[in-house]
Amino acid sequence: MKILNRRHLLQSLIMSSGAYALGALAADKNSVGKGNPPPPSRSWPYVALDLERTAELAYQFHDRMSSCMYGVFASIITQLAEKVGEPYRSFPCEMMVYGEGGVAGWGTLCGTLNGGAAAISLLVRQEAERKALIDELFLWYQNTKLPAYTPKNPFFPADLPAVKTDSILCHPSVSTWIKEAKVTFYSKERKERCTRLSADTAAKTVELLNASFAGTVAKQSNLGAKTSDCLSCHGKGGVQADVMAKSCTGCHFPANHQHP
Ligand code: HEC
Ligand code: HEC
Repeated sequence: MKILNRRHLLQSLIMSSGAYALGALAADKNSVGKGNPPPPSRSWPYVALDLERTAELAYQFHDRMSSCMYGVFASIITQLAEKVGEPYRSFPCEMMVYGEGGVAGWGTLCGTLNGGAAAISLLVRQEAERKALIDELFLWYQNTKLPAYTPKNPFFPADLPAVKTDSILCHPSVSTWIKEAKVTFYSKERKERCTRLSADTAAKTVELLNASFAGTVAKQSNLGAKTSDCLSCHGKGGVQADVMAKSCTGCHFPANHQHP
């Protein structure tokens, strides 16, 4: 029988903690050296949110920080901070201001969608579900006449046209809309349109999240006949497999292309 005296005990403790530290270091080295990411953290807790309140908050928050992405993201996180508390309360929502104007005015991805996708990615870590929800959100945006939201106390009271813009991108989406509204980009109407769009997109994001957590989202994102047709040749496995995208028509106008 082995009797552990104090010295033994101390020694074995030191050795095992040393070994533990070395082990941890080795594991660290391994993960850094091989580029392994840390294990994925779990999704943050979600409770169903009210669509109307979400829209109203997004409308207000967008205006407060002059950022559509912030408006959408903060409308969701603020409510979860109220209902769940931490870790939402400490989340630096202000970082999301960067998405304004399609990322700092670059006219790329519409900030409302960037904000919605960010919220989805925080709350839904399961890859297939996350992507399905983002697909649904983006397809809805490009295929829906917007804005639809009517604020109770509008910052700029106006009857705005609702336009289907066929694009998820800030610049084409806005430029298509202002053509219909017969205003300039720098008009009060355009500003109001984007602020209302934040309300619409925030509410849609929450509608999808509510459905997803209730287990009622059908994971069958249909990209549309045209895009699927294009991808049958240009997508993975096609004769001209040179494209990764989920929409074509907002940028390419098929009639202009002469195909073999
Ligand atoms: C039957 C297969 C097929 C389908 C369907 C198809 N393409 Fe193509 N596409 C090709 C091939 C092959 C080429 C390259 C040969 C060429 O340029 O003619 C090409 C070339 C192109 C080009 C570059 C040449 C150009 O015309 O400017 C664009 C852009 C393009 N396709 C877009 C689309 C879009 C958008 C759709 C859907 C509306 C689509 N394609 C559907 C096979 C296809
Ligand atoms: C965000 C806008 C955008 C989207 C969305 C997009 N494209 Fe493009 N695509 C471009 C631009 C810009 C170019 C490079 C300039 C050009 O050749 O027109 C390009 C180039 C291409 C080319 C090569 C053109 C050549 O001259 O050979 C093909 C093929 C093509 N796209 C097909 C597609 C298909 C198919 C889809 C949908 C699955 C798609 N694109 C979606 C903007 C877009």
